[in-house]
Amino acid sequence: MGKAIKVENITKRFGDLCAVDSISYEVNEGECFGLLGPNGAGKTTLIRMLTTLLKPTNGTAFIEGYDINRNPDAVRKNIGVVPQAMTSDLDLTAWENMEIYGKYYQIPKKIRQKRIGELLDMVGLINRKDDLVATYSGGMRRRLEIARGLIHNPPIIFLDEPTLGLDPQGRRLVWEFLQRLRKERGLTLSITTHYMEEAEFLCDRVAIIDYGKIVALDTPMELKRNIPGSDIITITFDEVTKGLKEWINGLPSVHRIIEEFNDYQIYIDNGASLIPRLVEEVNKMGRRIVKVSLRELTLEDVFIHYTGRSIREEEAKKISFLIGAGVPQKFSRG
Ligand SMILES: Nc1ncnc2c1ncn2[C@@H]1O[C@H](COP(=O)(O)OP(=O)(O)OP(=O)(O)O)[C@@H](O)[C@H]1O
Ligand SMILES: [Mg+2]
Repeated sequence: MGKAIKVENITKRFGDLCAVDSISYEVNEGECFGLLGPNGAGKTTLIRMLTTLLKPTNGTAFIEGYDINRNPDAVRKNIGVVPQAMTSDLDLTAWENMEIYGKYYQIPKKIRQKRIGELLDMVGLINRKDDLVATYSGGMRRRLEIARGLIHNPPIIFLDEPTLGLDPQGRRLVWEFLQRLRKERGLTLSITTHYMEEAEFLCDRVAIIDYGKIVALDTPMELKRNIPGSDIITITFDEVTKGLKEWINGLPSVHRIIEEFNDYQIYIDNGASLIPRLVEEVNKMGRRIVKVSLRELTLEDVFIHYTGRSIREEEAKKISFLIGAGVPQKFSRG
């Protein structure tokens, strides 16, 4: 199978900080590849290098066979880019936003107009094409920006947090549309996201990045399977008793306990079988269980396993950053 993206030991240093630390991976043609990582992990820096906006300190990457260092113009022709912050111009209509990009890529007028019509139709905005983007919802604006990224018909599209801050319905619409793009056009997708459901829904493979390095790379299913313990029991005690953690840890099916205040998160195989014994033991120790729940592993747990952080907290920080990040960015015409 052909490789749409081939990353070779790519590195970016900002002074003493190594934001991207010798990362290598490959993405197949037509694949949807996800990058997951906490704030500051280096995802945007990596994407900026792959999309020729930033020069690597070391290493390189090949996009559709073109070297990002030696042949950035050819790379740019082969990629669509949807950056993290929204960049469509609020003072222009959807159609005008598309026109500016079409002209930037020097697409002849006739082809350009036909393509703009098709793309706006595909993202469900054709009826609003002459409305100012300022009147759009966040989801509509995002769909416009994805359409805009496809104006020159590239085989690969890079999306940095495509649904950040959207409501569940808006997110769904973007997902469905991205899936259609893959099916109908065989597009290769490179996505960074903080939404586990998004990674699970869209991505064939996911790389988890932390401190500039890939700490895990696999299909969502394999990532989950590679973590010891198929279930997680979350249990809240009235008060944590000495010796309890050691007792739980000594049970054969328990792989790991994460302790937080009076909560234990127990990674375990066949968790349901432990609960009665646990209740009994806690009672014997003269303590009470306030709450107990059992669930199967999710990609969120995989993320915590590798990064030690919860992705939900990260998401909240990012959304507050994004509000007001919709600075209109003007491109020169022609
Ligand atoms: N132009 C720059 N100059 C100096 N440091 C930078 C620059 N751009 C990024 N960094 C630093 O590099 C690190 C990686 O940042 P990056 O934006 O790539 O992270 P990210 O994974 O995209 O984070 P987020 O989830 O918040 O979008 C951070 O520590 C950041 O402060
Ligand atoms: Mg980023």
